Amino acid sequence: MKFSSLTRALASTALLTASLFSSSAVAIDVDPTNQDSLFAATQEVALKLRALYPDNETWFVAGEFGLIQTADGKNNQGYYWWEAGAAMGAWVEYWHYTGDDQFNDIVTTALLNQVGEDDNYEPSAQTLSLGNDDQAFWALAVLSAAERVFPNPPSDKPQWLTLAMAVFNRQASRWDELNCGGGLRWQVVSTNAGYDYKNAISNGLFFQMGARLARYTGNATYAEWAEKVYDWSKTTGIISSEYKVYDGSHIPTDTNGDGMEPDCPVTEVYQWSYNAGVYLAGAAFMYNYTDGDAKWENETNNLMQAIQSPFFTSDYIMRESACDPAPSDKAATCNTDQRSFKAYLSRFLAYTYQMAPFTQSWILPRLQASAVAAAATCNGGSDGKVCGLAWVKKTYDSSPYGIAVGGLGEHLSVMEILQANFITTAVPPVTNTTGGTSVGDPAAGTGTGSLESKLQTDPSTTGDKAGAGILTAIVLGLLLSLTYWLLRG
Ligand SMILES: *[C@@H]1O[C@H](CO)[C@@H](O)[C@H](O)[C@H]1NC(C)=O
Ligand SMILES: *[C@@H]1O[C@H](CO)[C@@H](O)[C@H](O)[C@H]1NC(C)=O
Ligand SMILES: *[C@@H]1O[C@H](CO)[C@@H](O)[C@H](O)[C@H]1NC(C)=O
Ligand SMILES: *[C@@H]1O[C@H](CO)[C@@H](O)[C@H](O)[C@H]1NC(C)=O
Ligand SMILES: *[C@@H]1O[C@H](CO)[C@@H](O)[C@H](O)[C@H]1NC(C)=O
Repeated sequence: MKFSSLTRALASTALLTASLFSSSAVAIDVDPTNQDSLFAATQEVALKLRALYPDNETWFVAGEFGLIQTADGKNNQGYYWWEAGAAMGAWVEYWHYTGDDQFNDIVTTALLNQVGEDDNYEPSAQTLSLGNDDQAFWALAVLSAAERVFPNPPSDKPQWLTLAMAVFNRQASRWDELNCGGGLRWQVVSTNAGYDYKNAISNGLFFQMGARLARYTGNATYAEWAEKVYDWSKTTGIISSEYKVYDGSHIPTDTNGDGMEPDCPVTEVYQWSYNAGVYLAGAAFMYNYTDGDAKWENETNNLMQAIQSPFFTSDYIMRESACDPAPSDKAATCNTDQRSFKAYLSRFLAYTYQMAPFTQSWILPRLQASAVAAAATCNGGSDGKVCGLAWVKKTYDSSPYGIAVGGLGEHLSVMEILQANFITTAVPPVTNTTGGTSVGDPAAGTGTGSLESKLQTDPSTTGDKAGAGILTAIVLGLLLSLTYWLLRG
């Protein structure tokens, strides 16, 4: 395909340029134990992230990174919708940790613009990429806003806590007992590829949301859900007996036509850092909510210990082991999404540190060593401050988006590991009795408004479904070619 050879050529140009620039490396130096140094470094990377937000483009939509200018000046690559939700959540955390409010207006506008027709982060414009995990990344952003006492929206707009509850209730309604003894499917819409897949990130995010809502509101129903999701994840083997978190299982083909398949063996045994992190932080929130329950102490500790070997080197530098090799002589093969996963493990380790204080001496040296290595990759680009992907290399590597700007995932990840180092002095997440001001509505999201009901009840959408199928095929084709050049590159 023309597209892939062009992009491969670009990638190697970027690599060459990278090696030229890294000899005159500027980089970002950071002492993670010094608050001034940490603030300067974090802000520098936050501004790099800001430079990627395309709000000066004619096609811009608030809350979407969309198509990004590539090195050849052609807009031919994009970011999925979920990653923008993740970025907004990261900026909520940035404001909390640094006090720098310069991105707050962008965040508020984006979080409100993407709520969709029914105020539940199921906008029909995102039908093709609406996984439960995609929706949940937006929910994490509004949950953080509630827990961090981020400025509330005007009273005629949906409120942060209400939005988080709406997503929770939507997902609870999709819990599927007919297959695999429970669990959320990856995709929301039955025509999307991946509707047969029950994966760690969708279920792990639902678990973490339940744990956080329980702690914030004190409402035990959320905790009961969280425990159910967690126990199911262990029973099904997504969390293994050694506490490895595997990616997921496909519902087997329904050969006898009874519409149910109780056994879903875990076949996708990749380990991704955000899967491990999302369960770890959820367990830590449960530990905190239950005021130190022995089960959650044990689970938190076991999940934490299991993170070392896949996701940290022996000198405590975080890496995305499935696509970011160590020793560091090979090029990383992470795709656009995977390039951001270390951001969430960083964020989730910081939550764990505060929610389960017995983890602190384990977590802190890893946050510190990873922050120094991550900042050292920020020596790309003509200003010598564009960040790379593989922290183990301690120098800029490459980005499919070109060396001039670098990638969203790379900058998100470096920003989040840097700001996580403020954890030793930061105020913990509040609850509705310790300073929270966001207004909730436990019934949010339980009305009839939902993407599935619209697609299922409106006869005029039959054509749309066929259209969606064709578009899915196009998107899959693009994904395949992207994967092709990433693997070959
Ligand atoms: C928008 O800003 C980016 C980054 O500064 C720049 O590369 C791009 O050319 C700008 N686009 C327009 C339409 O001005
Ligand atoms: C906190 O939330 C719970 C559950 O929604 C509610 O019963 C309680 O009144 C709330 N407390 C405050 C101080 O708002
Ligand atoms: C819950 O979190 C708070 C805030 O970090 C902490 O002070 C408290 O000790 C935690 N609870 C337990 C049981 O560790
Ligand atoms: C703690 O976890 C171990 C698995 O590593 C398990 O054998 C043990 O029963 C657990 N204890 C509790 C109290 O949950
Ligand atoms: C607790 O949460 C459940 C589930 O969302 C909800 O149905 C119930 O009304 C909530 N109770 C209170 C007191 O807010």
